[in-house]
Amino acid sequence: MKRRHFLKTAATIGTGLVILPSGTRIGKAAPSNKLNVALIGVWGRGLAHYDSLAEENVVALCDVNEKRFPDALKRFPNAKTYVDWRKCLDQKGLDAVVCCTADHTHAFIANWSLNRNLHCYMEKPLAISVEEARVVRANWLKKKGKLATQVGMQRHQFPNFNRLREMIHDGVIGELSAAYAWGDRQIRRSGYPPAEGQPPEGFHYDLWIGPSPFHPYNPSYFSGGPGMNCLSWNMYWDFGTGQIGDMGSHTMDLVWNVIDATLPTSAEAKGEPFNPEVTPVTCEFHFENPANDWRGPMRVSWYQGGVFPSSPKEYIDLKKIGHGAMFKGSKGFVICDFVSRIVLPFGDNADLTYYKPRPKDKILPDIGHFQKQWLDACKNPSLKTACDFEYSGNMIEQLLLGLVAYRVGRKIEYDGAAGRVTNCPEANDLLRRKYRPGWTLDG
Ligand SMILES: NC(=O)c1ccc[n+]([C@@H]2O[C@H](COP(=O)([O-])OP(=O)(O)OC[C@H]3O[C@@H](n4cnc5c(N)ncnc54)[C@H](O)[C@@H]3O)[C@@H](O)[C@H]2O)c1
Repeated sequence: MKRRHFLKTAATIGTGLVILPSGTRIGKAAPSNKLNVALIGVWGRGLAHYDSLAEENVVALCDVNEKRFPDALKRFPNAKTYVDWRKCLDQKGLDAVVCCTADHTHAFIANWSLNRNLHCYMEKPLAISVEEARVVRANWLKKKGKLATQVGMQRHQFPNFNRLREMIHDGVIGELSAAYAWGDRQIRRSGYPPAEGQPPEGFHYDLWIGPSPFHPYNPSYFSGGPGMNCLSWNMYWDFGTGQIGDMGSHTMDLVWNVIDATLPTSAEAKGEPFNPEVTPVTCEFHFENPANDWRGPMRVSWYQGGVFPSSPKEYIDLKKIGHGAMFKGSKGFVICDFVSRIVLPFGDNADLTYYKPRPKDKILPDIGHFQKQWLDACKNPSLKTACDFEYSGNMIEQLLLGLVAYRVGRKIEYDGAAGRVTNCPEANDLLRRKYRPGWTLDG
């Protein structure tokens, strides 16, 4: 049986025929256990995936900048190269896609991958409009258990994520009523930069623009170092979402992993005046998330660009935590960053007698290496990944709805099942983006 057919058969029947996770391989990387992977966006964040892909067959490399190919080919010499991801995804025999392109193409590449039955690892943010998040999630839910997905929120592998979940579920702060996450990165731009110079030879600028409205070339979009260049374009509405999608994806994950939320019933935002070209730097967003089977309804908030939630006590300066989160319950607060946490029991009854730390054999297991968790799930899609397109799709849909509330300047009520704002018709127009002709979101 051809290996690809074998993979598909295994995925289709769901049980029985599975490829062993690589940790249980017999011998080192037996050829039949390797995935045929396309890496789209090979420089910048793409470089962070080279090591975890080293044991697979990287058979396709795609980048809009041809200058990036020689180095990538040194590492993956058997790969074919492409400048257009649509052609890359048509390569025969692919199993999986790792995508590190600019944010405005993420939902496209996620959908096209899923529609071609390819496992997909997508860098954060998964989408830049509410509609994009919903379409990707819907496509993934049709194939859940057959394809493996993961969004690049790799800090999720830090044990602190599990420790927070355990202590809040086990009642260290009583009944959970609110959660806050924040990020203090501030990069100000006044508008799209003017036309300047020409794209260097081998750089396919029109493909970089892709589905977004055209803006003339300016070298400042491409002036950042590897893995940091996203900070040169992600604040412009047509290319990204600013910090809410950037560090918001990582930092709200601290909250999302604890609260078991789906979609909010409302969103509101308060921040600096609206700029039609650039996303806000200073802004706060508030959401109401309905009750679930272990907690009541709660308020969830994201603060960015110099605003923070109020500290429960003056002697705790939340501003000293550049990216952090806080949980509020009936008996106190938990305050954390990605790797540490403090518990602040609050009030005369907060004596902690109601809280018993878990014994060692009951603590949640580490998820291990985040990228590898996805690679293992590609080989056995019945394995769960921490940040699949359902979990991450819900989270980014909520955050992106916050940007819609910011744009209309009022509290919006949301029907998450229908994907409609029920009290503000103009907000519904902002749930989706308009694309250039020739680009199909769900192709
Ligand atoms: N998970 C993390 O911690 C983390 C860290 C940094 C960046 N990122 C994410 O990774 C993505 C890339 O960020 P970056 O700073 O590397 O950006 P970048 O501008 O350097 O782009 C990375 C590579 O993708 C290529 N590329 C861009 N658009 C493309 C397209 N349409 N088709 C093919 N190739 C394309 C670029 O030429 C470049 O080689 C962003 O979405 C960013 O949010 C995630």
